Amino acid sequence: MKLTSRSVSRAALVSSVLATVTLSAGLLVATSANAATTLGASAAQSGRYFGTAVAANKLSDSTYVGILNREFDMVTAENEMKIDATEPNQNQFTFGNADRIVNHARAQGMRVRGHTLAWHSQQPGWMQNMEGTALRSAMLNHVTKVAQYYAGKIYAWDVVNEAFEDGSSGARRNSNLQRTGNDWIEAAFRAARAADPAAKLCYNDYNTDDWTHAKTQAVYRMVQDFKTRGVPIDCVGLQSHFNAQSPVPSNYQTTLQNFANLGVDVQITELDIEGSGTTQAANYERVTKACLAVTRCTGITVWGIRDTDSWRSYGTPLLFDGSGNKKPAYTAVLDALNSVGGTTTTTTTTTSNDPVPGGCTATASVNAWNGGFVVTVKVTAGAAAIRGWTVTLALPSGSTVTNSWNATRNGNQWSNVAYNGNLTAGQATEFGFQGTGSAGSPSPTCTAS
Ligand code: G3I
Repeated sequence: MKLTSRSVSRAALVSSVLATVTLSAGLLVATSANAATTLGASAAQSGRYFGTAVAANKLSDSTYVGILNREFDMVTAENEMKIDATEPNQNQFTFGNADRIVNHARAQGMRVRGHTLAWHSQQPGWMQNMEGTALRSAMLNHVTKVAQYYAGKIYAWDVVNEAFEDGSSGARRNSNLQRTGNDWIEAAFRAARAADPAAKLCYNDYNTDDWTHAKTQAVYRMVQDFKTRGVPIDCVGLQSHFNAQSPVPSNYQTTLQNFANLGVDVQITELDIEGSGTTQAANYERVTKACLAVTRCTGITVWGIRDTDSWRSYGTPLLFDGSGNKKPAYTAVLDALNSVGGTTTTTTTTTSNDPVPGGCTATASVNAWNGGFVVTVKVTAGAAAIRGWTVTLALPSGSTVTNSWNATRNGNQWSNVAYNGNLTAGQATEFGFQGTGSAGSPSPTCTAS
């Protein structure tokens, strides 16, 4: 049995092996200090994710996919899960392009944000022409069918998108959905919860970044009301599309914190900041640090990979240039994420009593922070192919697992799901879980089938 331990210190920016100690029980412990070198890994140090919007038609672009697979651990379909894409004709659902994105993400061990179930925009023609009770039923049917189809595969759904007016009114946006009755938003949330109880359910909007804006206040009051009345809402997404007309507000962190104080997670869901050079980098750094300063700001998603992939490509608002090179803004985000790293421990255990030749091994990587942790477990098949695996991993008493991905949990055992049980000899897959309390230094064992 071999056990390896790696600790990532807060300040250390140089990767170096510092110590190797052989324990009496035959365990090998190696300690190293380094800074994570990708956006996803550096965000994971504090239990957060770093995601991007993905367009299905770019999954054949090798530069695009190379950056996607290397840097990101959360994916949002840029357009492919919207109503016009998934239900082009009433009650005829098409998931081809959305599936391509979801399958790619899951094969890479990335999680998926669903975007979006109910929205006044990008409605298919048949829905645009609907009003009243027929539209209410059609909307709820859409929410139910799409959330059911992806149940178990979605980390968080943007259940309702952009339902409030811009400007000073603080009113709901006048849309065909709003005209079905003011309770349409909570009805959508209840339908989504029933269809996929495991997904976090979010309200998502833009121009809700400045705490003093009427629109921000209006969304805040709605979320407060939902929490008071038990409407199932778990998170608020701030799209955060910034440019000269709509700059990063000085009170951005206050806004994130005030939403979080309502008892919901907050996520930056569509971040892009027009500009270039050090000014753009400084703005990205501010946004990143604001999220890091708010415990319940659980992740950041940028709205595209390269500037040329952006809906605002003229504003060069993203972290990679058109050739896929890292911009100063990338470095600013990476450094900010690394400035608050937690402690990472990696343990490897090889089992000898597997029922199949070669068996499997499991490596657990723990990203811990004060009061919480994310464990990522890598399962690797031995010298022979396997058809399934179960990892046993005990946590210290008092710790609670709050959610898992890419595995089915039964107590302290996690087993493969349908798409990641078959591994060829030497092939690896990853699953993970998040929890409160401490993960300790887990020593996973892997049993193959
Ligand atoms: O794919 C077709 C192409 O075949 C056709 O030739 C072309 C002609 O207009 O249109 C192409 O589709 C466009 C699609 O993007 C893919 O590029 C649509 O017209 C265009 O409307 C669509 O824009 C999307 C926009 O949402 C629509 O509302 C953007 O890509 C997407 O980035 C943007 O994302 C939104 C979020 O969902 C919500 N928050 C704001 C954000 C930015 O607008």
